[in-house]
Amino acid sequence: MTDRIKDKSNGEVTVFAPAKINLFLAVTSKRTDGYHELITVMAKLGIGDLVRIEKNTLLKEPSLSCPGFEELENRENLVLVAVEKWLERVGGDRGYQIELRKAIPPMSGLGGGSSDAVSALLAMNELSDNQLSNSELKELAAEIGSDCPSFLDEGICLAEGRGEEISPIIASVTDDLFGHEIFLFRPSMGLSTTEIYQRLAQNSTYSSQNWAKVRLGAWSAGELPTEEFLHNDLEKPVFQKYLFFQPLFDQIDKEFGLKCLLSGSGSCCFTCLPKGFDGLIEFKEMIEQAWGDECWVEKTYLIR
Ligand code: C5P
Repeated sequence: MTDRIKDKSNGEVTVFAPAKINLFLAVTSKRTDGYHELITVMAKLGIGDLVRIEKNTLLKEPSLSCPGFEELENRENLVLVAVEKWLERVGGDRGYQIELRKAIPPMSGLGGGSSDAVSALLAMNELSDNQLSNSELKELAAEIGSDCPSFLDEGICLAEGRGEEISPIIASVTDDLFGHEIFLFRPSMGLSTTEIYQRLAQNSTYSSQNWAKVRLGAWSAGELPTEEFLHNDLEKPVFQKYLFFQPLFDQIDKEFGLKCLLSGSGSCCFTCLPKGFDGLIEFKEMIEQAWGDECWVEKTYLIR
């Protein structure tokens, strides 16, 4: 795992919170607890937020600032949820000033909120001489959100169950992927994960577990190229309601021969750029022409 601690001085620590994409996401059934059973491969990116936490004895309660995203400064923010959970478990003074610097757009399927929460747990632990073990942190992370535990793991990992059961992927497959360039593009609107899963459940369009395991096995064995492995069952409920995704994907495929995929429950999409790709300016222009100037684009890469 790439070292997340970016800066540490007396009573203050800054932790990087990487974004993620899902290279593969199969939803195989609805569970009795209301969640869905998943088989997904998550990959972390070089783009991310920064969570800075500082001990402040003048404060009675943890306080959050989020410059430029003031709408995120509330008690439901997963960063504050994480700090509260950590304090509940470990105890101690409650005076902490937290600053969240966002680079990952919210409601994008890039795991920003979950990653921020995990970085807050790591920061709190670092400030208190690592009182919690990695497995205790994983337990807390799973209580915060289904995809939180994956942010405590390697750059590319497998997540099953509701997303909280993490296992590594054979290094020979992933080693080739680190550093690979990824182009992200997002329309001006975000999407609600809960709503997208509800839409999927209404149509019961699930993948067979066997099919997903066979694909995963073939990719892990190096028998299926990553480009052919890319898959996301959440595209169907998103594309059925929001009709502007598929035509752009088709146009990109036709003009550039690139396969695009929705990340998680969206609304951000991505494509893996081939080595030496020289059509980025035209590619950006095509996206902006289709989705308008307010859309968000970013070139990044896969990290360890
Ligand atoms: O776990 P988390 O709070 O991130 O999930 C947000 C919502 O996404 C859940 O309330 C649920 O509606 C949906 N979800 C799901 N199955 C999963 C993960 C999330 O149905 N495996």
